[in-house]
Amino acid sequence: MFKKTSTAAAVAASTTLLLVIGGCSATSTGKAEADKSSVAAPKAKAVDYTAMSPNALAEHLIFESGSYELDQPTQEGTTGRDRLTQDEIQKTCSLMKGQELSDKNREKVMALAAASIKYPEGGIKLGDWKKGRELAWSGFGYRTAHNPDVHKTREAGGNCYNCHQLAPDRTGGNLGPSLTGYGKNRGSSPDMLKYTYDVIYNPHVYFACTNMPRMGASNVLNQQQIADIMAYLFDPESPVNK
Ligand code: HEC
Repeated sequence: MFKKTSTAAAVAASTTLLLVIGGCSATSTGKAEADKSSVAAPKAKAVDYTAMSPNALAEHLIFESGSYELDQPTQEGTTGRDRLTQDEIQKTCSLMKGQELSDKNREKVMALAAASIKYPEGGIKLGDWKKGRELAWSGFGYRTAHNPDVHKTREAGGNCYNCHQLAPDRTGGNLGPSLTGYGKNRGSSPDMLKYTYDVIYNPHVYFACTNMPRMGASNVLNQQQIADIMAYLFDPESPVNK
């Protein structure tokens, strides 16, 4: 399963509903917790669910039912509410869901993505592949709702393994293409480094409305962490290329 990140709209929408559902059941697991959430939750308005469209119902459950603590801080320095509020890329992709993306919208999403990418001073360099391996194989962090991850003692990961096969020594997911042999197969020209940095920072710049999260643009990974993960993908010594 995905952790909650501000990601492509499809992922955001489905994860959001899970958080809400998780929230409802969590209140019945312990009295202390139930009391806590009923104090924290604003009073829900009485509404007629049967008269609501699926979209209106989803919006109501998320933003008005009080089942989710909207003001809780997130590790990227925003709030739960900010995470659940779609930005322009997500809105555009949500509207196009199930339809073929028009050229106009594709160009719009790609341009917004390109504008979001910030490059390291001194250019794109590879970091430490061992740190990169830790990050790529960790899904810790950035989960909110009733039991947010605590980051004081443990760094949040990049979650790559959930969608990608990375190295032959462990089994990763297959929602995204396999990245095994990445550096060995593609080389590490400046263009290839830039492509990879861009994809990790904001993949919509190449794959408009992709399911891959925007790791840099959403502040999930900083530039050093991206450099470390890139080293894991490119370094000849990394298990990815063995
Ligand atoms: C939620 C799933 C998901 C996660 C998490 C994810 N990716 Fe991806 N990634 C994808 C998908 C899907 C694609 C293919 C793009 C497309 O067609 O939408 C992709 C494409 C890529 C590509 C381009 C592949 C190519 O053949 O050129 C790279 C590189 C990549 N991801 C790296 C990463 C790294 C590094 C991480 C972790 C920091 C990561 N991804 C996390 C889903 C994900």
